[in-house]
Amino acid sequence: MTKRRTILISGASAGIGRATAERLLADGHRIIGIARDFGKCPIDSPDFTCVEMDLGDIKALPEQLAELAAQHPEVDAVIHCAGRGRFGSLEEFSYKQIYKLMDLNFTSHAFICRAFMAQLKQKPHSNIVFIGSEAALQGTQKGSIYCATKFALRGFAQALRQECSGSGVHVSIINPGMVKTGFFDQLNFRHGEDAANYIEAADVATAIKTVLDGRPGMVIDEINLSPLKKVVNFKKP
Ligand SMILES: NC(=O)c1ccc[n+]([C@@H]2O[C@H](COP(=O)([O-])OP(=O)(O)OC[C@H]3O[C@@H](n4cnc5c(N)ncnc54)[C@H](OP(=O)(O)O)[C@@H]3O)[C@@H](O)[C@H]2O)c1
Repeated sequence: MTKRRTILISGASAGIGRATAERLLADGHRIIGIARDFGKCPIDSPDFTCVEMDLGDIKALPEQLAELAAQHPEVDAVIHCAGRGRFGSLEEFSYKQIYKLMDLNFTSHAFICRAFMAQLKQKPHSNIVFIGSEAALQGTQKGSIYCATKFALRGFAQALRQECSGSGVHVSIINPGMVKTGFFDQLNFRHGEDAANYIEAADVATAIKTVLDGRPGMVIDEINLSPLKKVVNFKKP
């Protein structure tokens, strides 16, 4: 590590966000983690600050995020991992489920960027890293709403990358295929069980570390990750 950084990670209580928090703490960085519930598996480190916040409660977010940004002017990287999957044909979604998924998977991330952007721009070198998905690259069956949330995130990342090019803010997006996390617990399918059928959360954390450690004069715009052999298993009803 060249410099000790203060890194905000959404979705730090589980899966990709948690693996990333653990990896970056091991590297000596300070982490501020956002999730709804850290009680189930706390991260025990003096360098970890947990912030329990429901990113799906979109109306409350502007005030909560403005307060968080004011409390932590030292944040010089934001990693956007919070999100969930919901799949099905369009008629299987209620209207409320459509906007709730968009709120969590896209709008909350735009709000976090909005709250922290001014202070990130003041730093000589700062990072914004989004966790997109293979669903941000290709629309898939039963994925109309989930893919739309991830396409929105990727479009936002690309536009922000241009918008920030006159500053020290490095904007990147990482698009994983199926990652072995609790993401699949509520879904009717999951990856195959062979180690070649999934990405580890730690693999994504390694990609994030590569992005953060990049030379300041260079931006890693986008990284795509996939399992060696894609296998999708449907659970028995
Ligand atoms: N796993 C995959 O195959 C895969 C593939 C491509 C992309 N992704 C993307 O990667 C991201 C992370 O997924 P994951 O696999 O790490 O899933 P995960 O293990 O289920 O973790 C999701 C994280 O998001 C947080 N979260 C969920 N709803 C939230 C809310 N309303 N407010 C605040 N935090 C919330 C969860 O914390 P709490 O429950 O404590 O709030 C948890 O920390 C998601 O954006 C997902 O779309 C996943």
